[in-house]
Amino acid sequence: MSIPFNDLSRAALESAEDLKAIVERVILSGRYVLDSEVAAFEKAFASFVGVPYAVGVNSGTDAIFLGLRALDIKSGDEVVTVANTATATIAAIRMTGATPVFTDIDTSYTMDPNDLERRITPKTKAILPVHLYGFPADMHRISSIAKKRGLPILEDAAQAHGATIGERTVGRWGDIAAYSFYPTKNLGALGDAGAIATNNEHLAERMRRLRAYGEKARYESVEEGVNSRLDELQAAILTYSLSRLPVRNARRRQIAEQYLMSIDNPAVTLPKQTEGERKGVWHLFVVEVDYREHFIEHMTQEKIGTAIHYPMPAYRQKAYSFLNVNPADYPVTERTAPRIVSIPLFPELKDEEVDAIIAAVNSYVR
Ligand SMILES: Cc1ncc(COP(=O)(O)O)c(C=O)c1O
Repeated sequence: MSIPFNDLSRAALESAEDLKAIVERVILSGRYVLDSEVAAFEKAFASFVGVPYAVGVNSGTDAIFLGLRALDIKSGDEVVTVANTATATIAAIRMTGATPVFTDIDTSYTMDPNDLERRITPKTKAILPVHLYGFPADMHRISSIAKKRGLPILEDAAQAHGATIGERTVGRWGDIAAYSFYPTKNLGALGDAGAIATNNEHLAERMRRLRAYGEKARYESVEEGVNSRLDELQAAILTYSLSRLPVRNARRRQIAEQYLMSIDNPAVTLPKQTEGERKGVWHLFVVEVDYREHFIEHMTQEKIGTAIHYPMPAYRQKAYSFLNVNPADYPVTERTAPRIVSIPLFPELKDEEVDAIIAAVNSYVR
């Protein structure tokens, strides 16, 4: 048995007939960009997040960028985010011209609230926590610091559709939340797509303008915008996939719980994303090992795919060397980055595959 790290074709196969009908419907409608399918998806997604407004855009990166633009973030400003995240978060901040400033992570792999206050300077204009691997950042503490400092929050919820803190979903803690529907995400399109969610009518209206050349009405640009329109085909597919998301998230949780219960190899540290009222949606299942290459080699021999999220913090990447970040300022991120490795977790994993993954991890000897 060979088990891939992920296999999107399995979900597609399950839904093939429904997807074909959706594609045919949209093709025959003769309307392909920002029309009734987008409006219907925005309404359904806003309701899923629990906010009045959602704005469909081209990608998660654009969702962050346009959200920051709506908050008036610009060159010369600083946006405090977290050292362990997808490069996309940093790219989106840089698209506004602002400078990303990093906090270290805590043991949940998300923004360490204890490290947040000292990173805030007079130039800080927004705080951008990331609900990484599907696990909510500590929004109680982050929100209270933001409130005290009078700073807006943009939540990067690209990996966390449906994650909750107590009764409240992520995406409802900040002023704006950005989502990605990249195909591998918990809610994935069949291509690139994203959305921005907010409680604030004024921000929603501005983001709607910014995604389409800053137009208030057709051919009337009131501010500089971009083309980040969502297309009808992706929107229709997303509305369909959204209806399946609760069941698929539940399956992810079931597999994660099985891993947490049954992996008992002292050489493998299990994720601590299980504590208190923060409930993740297990976008990824990330373990830590002392000798990562050796572990990956073992899993490969067992014919099981692995991946690394992420091998190198953004501040260490060549592209961001101009930020002149001192890695020693991020001890937990530095300690963690060389140790993390993700094992397969997607809803279509079969029970026997889950058992085989557990057995393979448990048979690893360092
Ligand atoms: C944490 C995080 N933020 C932002 C993004 C950007 O999303 P997209 O790939 O849709 O631009 C991603 C996905 O790649 C992500 O994982």
